[in-house]
Amino acid sequence: MSHLLFVETTGLGVQAIEYAKKAGHTVTYLHCPQYEFTAPPELRDRARELADHTAAFADPADDEGVLAALRDSGADAGTVDAALSTLSYCAQAAANLAEAIGARGTPADAVAAARDKGRCRAVLEEHAIPSLDFEVVTTLAQALVAADRIGYPVIVKPVLGIGKAVTSITRSPTELEAHFALADAARADLEQGMASQLDERFIVEALAHGDLYSVEVAADGETCVPLVCVGRKVGLDNPVLELGCTVPSGLPADQERELGDYAVRVCRALGLDLGVFHVEVMHTEAGFRLIEVNPRLTGGALPDSINAVADRDIFALLVDLHLGTGEPLRPLRLEAAASHTFLAAAENCTAPADLSPDWFDAFLPGLHSGWARVTAGQSLPRMTVNFDSFGMVRAVSSDLAIADAVCAETRHAVGEALGIPLMTENPSKMFTPQPAGDPAVAPPS
Ligand SMILES: Nc1ncnc2c1ncn2[C@@H]1O[C@H](COP(=O)(O)OP(=O)(O)OP(=O)(O)O)[C@@H](O)[C@H]1O
Ligand SMILES: [Mg+2]
Repeated sequence: MSHLLFVETTGLGVQAIEYAKKAGHTVTYLHCPQYEFTAPPELRDRARELADHTAAFADPADDEGVLAALRDSGADAGTVDAALSTLSYCAQAAANLAEAIGARGTPADAVAAARDKGRCRAVLEEHAIPSLDFEVVTTLAQALVAADRIGYPVIVKPVLGIGKAVTSITRSPTELEAHFALADAARADLEQGMASQLDERFIVEALAHGDLYSVEVAADGETCVPLVCVGRKVGLDNPVLELGCTVPSGLPADQERELGDYAVRVCRALGLDLGVFHVEVMHTEAGFRLIEVNPRLTGGALPDSINAVADRDIFALLVDLHLGTGEPLRPLRLEAAASHTFLAAAENCTAPADLSPDWFDAFLPGLHSGWARVTAGQSLPRMTVNFDSFGMVRAVSSDLAIADAVCAETRHAVGEALGIPLMTENPSKMFTPQPAGDPAVAPPS
């Protein structure tokens, strides 16, 4: 049996720890209190309960501190076979620690190249992989020059950004000025764990017009394959905000193959040769164009949507691949279609004062799964970053259009029940043929 080290986890990622324990492995779990906001406390408690060794570290950027936590946990560093993180914020710490103790892990340089949105695009250019025009800047003056050269509209994102923090689409120099004027305040509003990852650099990028997809790419040190291609739901009013996913992607087979091959090329160019990676790609008129690579398995609700319909458990695959014990890699086979939609307020508002504690239960019978954390009188902030959603609904069907329509209908009904405006996804695709839906379950207009 082997010894696996988790440097933090997402809420759903606790399933990887569960699988590792069931398979008889030793698990060490290092926990970082800065990231408690990313999952309900009971899930991290569960991770600590399951782990054989556990300890806390304060700052994922402090390699010595993370190594000290490993010592504090009582685990013997020499017996660790592999180290990983399912949480974006700690992917670099896990890769660095794996290298420091001689365990298997994603190469630290590759993680650094993927995380840095400017370096990542430079690598793509070096490998002649189609990408978007960009410049890395630190001041408004530089940003104005870059945007002028690239041509408006541009998107401005922190080079090390995660979760849509301090990100704006700007259509004019005035809007670009507004982004920089508000950036400090936006940064101050972030959770400490989000803000601490950022530095002073922004990337100014050509805004790609098209349909958003993602690919989970798996690499076991030898082969690198697209495990699954996924369609992404984006906001109708603000396309930067992601509101859910569909599995499968909804793309015709030939385009899905092209998307998978593109994502694999991107991971290979970056040197991401061990792990499961989340590659976000825009389908534009000119072809597929990278948005970004997260050098870890997808977060959010997507792992459970994949597991609802795939023939292999993605967390089991992640663990086996790190330990070098898995079956040969191949794309997942999907037995049905899954769709999930996040529930999030479109404006700052308050839940009804007379909301019953079990109000959400009425929605569950029509769904595969879902949750909502809203109590009577609770204030619900307008969605600005990923963590602002207060719930999720998931539908599974043999027909993707039906699963999608069930999510849209349920989201609409939840908004009515709470009496608040919810973020609405853009139902149309620009460059992807739409599957024909069942008119009986067409989404509300
Ligand atoms: N160049 C671009 N053209 C068009 N849309 C873009 C571009 N870059 C980003 N976006 C949109 O903005 C969203 C956020 O960008 P990106 O994924 O780079 O940031 P992030 O903060 O790392 O997000 P997350 O961590 O949630 O994935 C993307 O999902 C996409 O919808
Ligand atoms: Mg992203």
